[in-house]
Amino acid sequence: MSGEGAGLTPKEDSEVLRNTNYSGFRLESTWKPVVMVRGDGMFLEDEQGRKYLDFSAQPAAVNLGHNNRHIIQAIKDQADKLAYVGVGFGTDVRASFSRKLKEVLPGNLNKYNFSNSGSEANEAAVKMVRTFFKKEGKTKIISRYNSFHGWTAATTQLTGNPRRFAAETTGAYPGVVHVPDPYCYRCPFGLEYPGCGVACAEYIDYAMKNEANVGAVILEPVTGASGVVVPPKEYLPRVLEITEENGAFLIADEILCGWGRTGEWFAVDNWGVKPDIMTTAKGITGGQFPLSLTATNKTIAEYFDENWLPVSGTFSAHPLGMAAGIAAIEEYQRGGYVTRAKELGVHLGRRLAELKDRHPSVGDVRGLGLLWAVELVKNRKTKVPFDTADDYLSGKPLMVSKVASKMMSMGVFVYSGVVSHLIVSPPLIISKEQIDMAVDVMDKALGVSDSEADAVQ
Ligand SMILES: Cc1ncc(COP(=O)(O)O)c(C=O)c1O
Repeated sequence: MSGEGAGLTPKEDSEVLRNTNYSGFRLESTWKPVVMVRGDGMFLEDEQGRKYLDFSAQPAAVNLGHNNRHIIQAIKDQADKLAYVGVGFGTDVRASFSRKLKEVLPGNLNKYNFSNSGSEANEAAVKMVRTFFKKEGKTKIISRYNSFHGWTAATTQLTGNPRRFAAETTGAYPGVVHVPDPYCYRCPFGLEYPGCGVACAEYIDYAMKNEANVGAVILEPVTGASGVVVPPKEYLPRVLEITEENGAFLIADEILCGWGRTGEWFAVDNWGVKPDIMTTAKGITGGQFPLSLTATNKTIAEYFDENWLPVSGTFSAHPLGMAAGIAAIEEYQRGGYVTRAKELGVHLGRRLAELKDRHPSVGDVRGLGLLWAVELVKNRKTKVPFDTADDYLSGKPLMVSKVASKMMSMGVFVYSGVVSHLIVSPPLIISKEQIDMAVDVMDKALGVSDSEADAVQ
């Protein structure tokens, strides 16, 4: 019930939430939630009747727009028919969704485990790998620093970005080794593409050989909230080759970058790479129902025909999620939204690049399809950022949050990434005019960061 209906003011609702709920990934005392009451297409509406264009899709989940009618109708219809049955039973809707998935997933991924969140999908992936390689003792997993793989114990450890620091002290999940990213704007090797020989990919080979006992490499083919790092074209094919040469699996975490976001059904499709395992969530139901997927290749599937599979939960393969998933794929196909993301992405990229020309505090603009980062810097020449990981963890208001707040005050929601970039990842239904309007708002809001940036010739 909204605050109105409960006799509470919007301010009171916000306070109730602050006092009784955790938000997470922040100092809780800094949480002052805007209370949303309605969603419609590109827009969210708060308790005070203010509307916000969602320029990040919460982020990158509500790919087909808020309250997508087709998906919601499918959920309602399924609820009327069979709202829930345990995972050990089959359902017709689960069989239909499994057939539908085959139309869009990389062709080698033909066995599916369903769960409820991206974190769980990654948990399932690493448990599968470790079980598969148990006899050989290949239990280590390689992950990258600029990554986010989830909030559970194991996936926090897989995560490379500062969100892992606090949980690390609990020693939650041993055996994860982090490696540098294909982050050309701040190359960890101090090199420049293409002269670098894609050292970041070759380093993975080095790490695998020196670590030994590596069962898998997990990576986001295009990094999401940790900075939208788009790798050079050679990177992903080479990493797949390296995992094969070293007898390990490649896990593609497409929880955020999948579902048309980068202008292909899945980000790996941009480079024709077929991972051994793919995990995905968010856009799988257009964000309208919690659902995630761990899809595996034939080798892994055959192994578990005769070996225990230590995954599954009460709500795995929930019928409402299956119905939402079918409807979402139908919507992506009906609207041609994957191709549209590729086409509109060119316009969005061009408009964001103009911001870099105009604003001294914009250090880098990078992305693919409808997934972009605008990285802010205090000094464009030295690339010194406004904020550090320590600032983020200490609860200091970050420059990206200040710019995002300014945009919010002008009616556009944009997600602040960890630590120095804004994530632009609108629903794929966005129009060209709405892109222009939101970029114009960002243009104005960047005055906030410009005013604190160093003057650089
Ligand atoms: C790349 C990536 N992996 C995993 C996750 C975790 O997904 P969830 O929040 O659904 O557990 C996220 C969430 O943002 C993500 O972006």
